[in-house]
Amino acid sequence: MIESVSPARTVSGAISVPGDKSISHRFAMLTSIAEGESRIRNYSTGADCRSTLSCMARLGIRHEVAEKEGRTELIVHGKGIHGLQPPNESLDAGNSGSTIRMLSGILAAQPFRTTLVGDESLSRRPMRRIMKPLAEMGARINATDEQFPPLTIEGGPLHAITYESPIASAQVKSCVLLAGLYAEGETTVREPVQTRDHTEIALRELGADISVSRREVRVRGGASLEAKSLVVPGDISSAAFFLVAALAARESDLVIANVGLNPTRTALLDFLKSIGASLKILNVEIANGELIGNIQVKSSKIQGGLIEREMTAALIDEIPVLAVLGATSESGLVVKDAAELRVKETDRIQTVADNLKRMGAKVIVHQDGLEIPGKQSLHAAELESYGDHRIAMAFAVAALSADGPCNIRDSEAASVSFPEFYDTLREIAH
Ligand code: S3P
Repeated sequence: MIESVSPARTVSGAISVPGDKSISHRFAMLTSIAEGESRIRNYSTGADCRSTLSCMARLGIRHEVAEKEGRTELIVHGKGIHGLQPPNESLDAGNSGSTIRMLSGILAAQPFRTTLVGDESLSRRPMRRIMKPLAEMGARINATDEQFPPLTIEGGPLHAITYESPIASAQVKSCVLLAGLYAEGETTVREPVQTRDHTEIALRELGADISVSRREVRVRGGASLEAKSLVVPGDISSAAFFLVAALAARESDLVIANVGLNPTRTALLDFLKSIGASLKILNVEIANGELIGNIQVKSSKIQGGLIEREMTAALIDEIPVLAVLGATSESGLVVKDAAELRVKETDRIQTVADNLKRMGAKVIVHQDGLEIPGKQSLHAAELESYGDHRIAMAFAVAALSADGPCNIRDSEAASVSFPEFYDTLREIAH
């Protein structure tokens, strides 16, 4: 599909965004191995989280969608920690790195063999990062060229390990913790910088034996998980597109309701404030161990900034849209220590740079980063999503600041995390 996006003077109104993708994956996997029926409100509408549900269905876990008091709920019929059944066919993780990496942790402990496949993009993404710790725990995993999906996992009894993760990755940490639920003894994961902690929070909510001290997490194997009613906060990484859109337009006043404000995800808000954004956080509450609140954003004069080290890890999903903001900021944006961006759904250093160049902007590309000078005019252009949801949405936002309408090719990629994205954008951008 091609989406045409016209320049906007204002991005205003009151909206919400779909349920958080990271939390939805975790809730779907963990309630599947909990005892009994769990109800999940505001489960992500994105294709990635549907992939997780379809994998769980092939493992014998029934789910259905029900209406309760005017609200949609996902009901998952969990079968307990040892209740998964051998699938008749391979499991398809689609475009979802979170699905394949985290689910591998559970599958490594099952008394059967599973094959996990993915789409073209996922089939090029690195899996050694999870294969190594799972092999240390006792699993046997085969992969194409010893690192790419499809993965064939020969599950079996696992033993606990202490894993010093060399990469800042919540998917790796979560994979090892999920395997640790089944291992004999206490599994410890230490990470180089703290990454999102939704797995730890969800495990505690469902009754696992888990302890956390900043960059070290321990889980004891053998405990059972309890079914629960859960609510998923709105996805702050989806809200990021509208925050940037509103900041860059001249006359904006936008409220995004019920956004997840977990401190391991809010580096975005801190960074935006540090470069001049007018943001207010309202009505904060806590649900299932996660903070939720409303964010109000108004047009602001944006200075430039530097994203490096731990901050890069904390902003990794938001860098494409921050790069767009950088081009029209006062002094530009520099991104360092971002080699991980090259192994996301696309090589996001390249796909961001290519699209900015199509709009006539100057960009300097480094192996592990980007330099985008400020005060640039963005010109109307034909843009590409490259099949990457965050690139599609980041450049729909860029189009709002261009000097004429832009076309975004393969715009439907947005539905991986945010199927309602263009409708919401049309509602608030004028
Ligand atoms: C995610 C972790 C991050 C992030 C991805 C979701 C998660 O990936 O980029 O969108 O849900 O744990 P890495 O673990 O590869 O950094």
